[in-house]
Amino acid sequence: MKKGAKIAVIGVGAVGSTTAYTLLLRERASELVLIDYNHAKAVGDALDMNHGMPFLGRAKVWAGTYEDCRDADIIVITAGAAQKPGETRIDLLKRNVGIFESIMEEVLKVNDHAILLIASNPVDVMSYFSQKKSGWPVHRVIGSGTLLDSARFRYLIGSELDIDPRSIHAHIIGEHGDSEVPVWSLANVAGTEVSLSDEAKERVFANTRDAAYQIIEAKGATYYAIALAIDRICAAIVRNEGAVLNVSTLLNDYHGISDVYMGVPCVVDRSGVRSVLPLHITEEEKALLHKSADKLKDIIRSISL
Ligand code: NAI
Ligand code: 2OP
Repeated sequence: MKKGAKIAVIGVGAVGSTTAYTLLLRERASELVLIDYNHAKAVGDALDMNHGMPFLGRAKVWAGTYEDCRDADIIVITAGAAQKPGETRIDLLKRNVGIFESIMEEVLKVNDHAILLIASNPVDVMSYFSQKKSGWPVHRVIGSGTLLDSARFRYLIGSELDIDPRSIHAHIIGEHGDSEVPVWSLANVAGTEVSLSDEAKERVFANTRDAAYQIIEAKGATYYAIALAIDRICAAIVRNEGAVLNVSTLLNDYHGISDVYMGVPCVVDRSGVRSVLPLHITEEEKALLHKSADKLKDIIRSISL
């Protein structure tokens, strides 16, 4: 077997196991280690995935311990509490900060070189927390940010226009959550304007922002699209792509916003977040982005770092 990337997934619940399966199908790693507080779940998932190996390219998948993170290239964290119907992502804060305290302590004992990719919610705050706790360079601590929201946005715009979402260029920036910002001023289809009525735009954005609530109400959790989003980020890292993805990173004077993790277009390659792209947004969009940042900063202030 050719040595490719080693990816550890910590927390193999709905999101973690779907992510691991997606990484496996897309052949992103030669070694995939599944770690969970509930070790039996990780053992079961590893067995189940290994039984599919005759239909796939070869990869080593196993249920491991933190010791297995020692030589991991990417450590994906999808552990922790998830929203119940009616809960916001912010409602998860206290529970997930506690869980991250223990996870980070274990990871830091064995690894100081990987890229940490955080998906647990509230993802921007958990990413900020992880970067501060680890002291790792900002470029190596990435949150999934608004990549999923931007995908939802592109899908919904594409549905309105009957155009393949891959040909829709549109960004959601800011918090992965209720204060996120749609950048309508730059949305385009192959350089042409997105011709939608104000009413259609409102509907598209409301369905983007509230997508998780709709899905959680319907089936208890969201996991397919986030797994594809995490896979997309891992692909950009392992293939050293330099892809532009709306991930969460620590902002430093982004339209005057600093010291907060939020989703903005970032160039992602083997180093992690190589750079941040300054979007030419309107004054109105800028004001919304500041509001989103202020909300996240208030939440960050409420946790002890
Ligand atoms: P889940 O409840 O199905 O899975 C969570 C897993 O974490 C469980 O297997 C549990 O045993 C494990 N876990 C809990 N404490 C742990 C610890 N200390 N060490 C290791 N493992 C531990 O939840 P689900 O649906 O998979 O969601 C996971 C997280 O992902 C939630 O915070 C959720 O809000 C978030 N999420 C984020 C998205 C995004 O766009 N960033 C999208 C969807 C979910
Ligand atoms: C999502 O947006 C719940 O954050 C999760 O699907």
